[in-house]
Amino acid sequence: MKTDTFFSKPIVILGPMESESAWLVAQLENRKDRHVGAYTFCEGFIGGYPVVVCRCYIGVVNSAAAATLAIQLYQPLCVIIQGTSGAHAPALHQGDIVLGERIVHIGRFFTPHRDKGAGTEPFAWEPQGSEIVSVDPEEFTDVLYSDSRILHIADSVPYAGGKVIRGTIGAADIWNRELDMIAHLHETLGTDCEEMEGFGVAQVCAQLGVPCANIRVISNSEWYEDEEFDQKYGESCQMFVLEVIKRMIAQNTLL
Ligand code: 5AD
Repeated sequence: MKTDTFFSKPIVILGPMESESAWLVAQLENRKDRHVGAYTFCEGFIGGYPVVVCRCYIGVVNSAAAATLAIQLYQPLCVIIQGTSGAHAPALHQGDIVLGERIVHIGRFFTPHRDKGAGTEPFAWEPQGSEIVSVDPEEFTDVLYSDSRILHIADSVPYAGGKVIRGTIGAADIWNRELDMIAHLHETLGTDCEEMEGFGVAQVCAQLGVPCANIRVISNSEWYEDEEFDQKYGESCQMFVLEVIKRMIAQNTLL
């Protein structure tokens, strides 16, 4: 494997916060940084294969911009968005990993009319699909999917920090702490957990034809008083994702 120069089709890994990206950056061999505006794309190698790690910052727009730039700069093999998330499923606990088989938007709604003074009724809001013409030029898209080959590899990664499940990840620029809303999203959209980037990154990847995967660790659950957000789980997710990409590289997945 060529290790001296950086060649095309690297694997891109995004993590929103320092605590969700710095550990992976530290694993890169022969690292060189490329700066574009606020973003730093850390180029290096894992086991001789080119990998780019970028802190994409919190939120759908920040992360979608990072994904767009990364695709334009590198024409990557795939983009993996990973990091922490809050549990929607009561069965999930801190440390558990959700492989985002399905990725849904939990911030895009059409509200029925209500008169002035009639208050607000969020449970009546109707979820809306997204305009992703690469998926369907006629219809709006409700669900995006992680690449099945990447998840197949992830299924086989040993993990001591908790359960690893395939599930539905909800994303929007919101941090829900109301348990009635969390239960509502879980029941109506089937969400297992929520975070703030996955749909934006998956949407850009779909529009530009690049395989994508969303892999999340549970870092907090409103269902349990003693499971408040703890950023240490960001490292657990990065360690898991490193094992995923090592296996992808060893098995030539996607090549
Ligand atoms: N709700 C929303 N985002 C969460 N994150 C972790 N837990 C949650 C939660 N319960 C992640 C987001 C964002 C950062 C604030 O942490 O993806 O990057």
